[in-house]
Amino acid sequence: MSKIVEKLVENQRLEPKELSYLLEDKTKELRQELADKAQKISKETYDNKIYIRGLIEYTNFCNNDCYYCGIRKSNKKAKRYRLTEDDILKSCENGYRRGFRTFVIQGGEDPYFNDQRMIRLIQMIHKRYSDCAITLSIGEKPRKAYEEFRKAGAERYLLRHETANKDHYCKLHPKSMSFENRMRCLKDLKSIGFQVGAGFMVGSPYQKIENLVEDLLFIKEFNPEMIGIGPFIPHRETPFKNNQSGSLNQTLLLISILRIMLPKALIPATTALGTIDPNGRELGILAGANVVMPNLSPVEIRKDYCLYDNKICTGEEGAEGITCLEKKMRLINYKIVIDRGDYPGIIVK
Ligand code: 5AD
Repeated sequence: MSKIVEKLVENQRLEPKELSYLLEDKTKELRQELADKAQKISKETYDNKIYIRGLIEYTNFCNNDCYYCGIRKSNKKAKRYRLTEDDILKSCENGYRRGFRTFVIQGGEDPYFNDQRMIRLIQMIHKRYSDCAITLSIGEKPRKAYEEFRKAGAERYLLRHETANKDHYCKLHPKSMSFENRMRCLKDLKSIGFQVGAGFMVGSPYQKIENLVEDLLFIKEFNPEMIGIGPFIPHRETPFKNNQSGSLNQTLLLISILRIMLPKALIPATTALGTIDPNGRELGILAGANVVMPNLSPVEIRKDYCLYDNKICTGEEGAEGITCLEKKMRLINYKIVIDRGDYPGIIVK
């Protein structure tokens, strides 16, 4: 094993300079070495289990205007929809039958779904599916709202930090959004007792290697239970339409480094990874990921939850393709399990 990989495995951290060196991705051999180590570490905690999360994209209305995102407020061409409570519950039912024990309620920051409506929805899902985990991915809210959501029965929250560098954050978001508030949200979520997911896009506009190093150091220190990363992919109706996509190999490399730095984290092979490469999700798992998030939304609306161009949504990445996904996982010696897939050591009430 090369010295630097040995050191990373031993200490679960590296100096910024050493991380930069790894991120320069000089050789295929080094990347492979990191992936092999990462996979081995993932198996020490999770064996060859892959956890599945049913993603319910319940609204694409959004008050925010993030420059990279296809459902940003200024995209007047986006066809907007919101699911009814009934649609959402039907999606859960469909997912439950297929073996999902985690539902991820994800959407734009849609004022229609105010705290009261969200609380009601969470309570209903929690009551009907008491053996399932509810994950929210609904953006920045006041602490009080997060507390209420937690009380109502949500246990996990995904909120990517997007970048750990304030200047970079300002280049990706309009003035109405702030780095400080994003960080405040993450800290609140953690202190309230959510299992929290942070993360970022790989190859986002203006991102430098040193920013990725800052992301790694931030994640190490914040110690989230879940880490979502995927390549940036341009969307034709956004200011970043002419920017390049993030690279497959850099994403895989980062998954491996993150797995070694945070051995127990739940790390998905994301839809964006599956979009830039037909084998993206398998490659993500072979690089150290242990979660996949098939789409449980009603098929008709999936194409409208379009954060980036060509987002996969009609093939086996959907929940109805689970048998196919199972086969693919078996081919790389992994198995999909029917399980909530909590962070190790979490006590489920
Ligand atoms: N490419 C890749 N990922 C994107 N996201 C938003 N827009 C894009 C894009 N163009 C990611 C963001 C957000 C998550 C829900 O999707 O990181 O947090």
